[in-house]
Amino acid sequence: MGKSEVNKVVIVTGSGRGIGAAIAADLADKGAKVVIADINLDAAGTLAAKIKAAGGEAIAAGVDVSERASVKALIDKTVRQYGRLDVMFNNAGISQTCPFLDVTEDDFNRIMKINGLGVLIGTQEAARQMIAQGDGGKIINTASIAGKQGYPLFAHYCASKFAVVAITQAAARALAEHRITVNCFGPGVVATELWQQLDREFMEHGLTSKPEQAINEFSQSILLGRVSVPKDITGVTTFLASEASDYITGQTVMVDGGMVLI
Ligand SMILES: NC(=O)c1ccc[n+]([C@@H]2O[C@H](COP(=O)([O-])OP(=O)(O)OC[C@H]3O[C@@H](n4cnc5c(N)ncnc54)[C@H](O)[C@@H]3O)[C@@H](O)[C@H]2O)c1
Repeated sequence: MGKSEVNKVVIVTGSGRGIGAAIAADLADKGAKVVIADINLDAAGTLAAKIKAAGGEAIAAGVDVSERASVKALIDKTVRQYGRLDVMFNNAGISQTCPFLDVTEDDFNRIMKINGLGVLIGTQEAARQMIAQGDGGKIINTASIAGKQGYPLFAHYCASKFAVVAITQAAARALAEHRITVNCFGPGVVATELWQQLDREFMEHGLTSKPEQAINEFSQSILLGRVSVPKDITGVTTFLASEASDYITGQTVMVDGGMVLI
């Protein structure tokens, strides 16, 4: 893709690091104006500065995706800075390893609030702005293999990612009349700090005995034979943000190296 192929204003939540950071950096490289939004404002600021140093256009913004007022403030800031919002990535998310019988109400609510409710709020508030602009838009949510299959050590996380798929389908139907498309993508096992945390939790529960045993064992079924890195995801995410995907809505595009074949 050429430098000017995604000439859009894009928010990426949870882009201070990991998958979100790669999504944002790739879009900035393709000419997008990118808002690096994260609960960790320092991390967001570091990436925004890096993008600008490389000749791209970016600002940093603090946000807690589970708080509507915070998401509204993020969109207001984006519109003040760049005049509009074209693409919203609801990517921020958290996970936790927990044996099925031990998942508590607090565990369930904490994950659902960020991964499920956060995506609902982000989709609604982005849509309100896009409807007011009157010329459509794109909303792209981060699902997972856990949005297609239930895994015994991640029941509450899977519930939250099934919720992402459900919200995506409902929103696609609700917002099509405004020429807003809503899609999600499903990573498999991506080597980010999120998986480092899961790996530690496997050991704390006595499920594994050494670092990286969990990620390696969990990845045995990947057809392409290796764990992914954030850069593996950006072909699809930049495509979903670009005009090339204008006729796609309500879909979940799996980017998992062939873990879930549905
Ligand atoms: N790593 C994987 O294997 C994997 C696989 C499938 C899906 N995912 C999903 O991809 C997304 C990104 O995961 P990652 O691996 O890059 O994780 P990560 O932990 O490396 O990064 C997540 C980012 O989200 C931010 N964040 C957390 N809570 C937030 C909140 N309430 N508001 C705003 N920002 C918040 C964090 O500060 C962090 O910068 C998540 O939705 C995750 O569920 C990850």
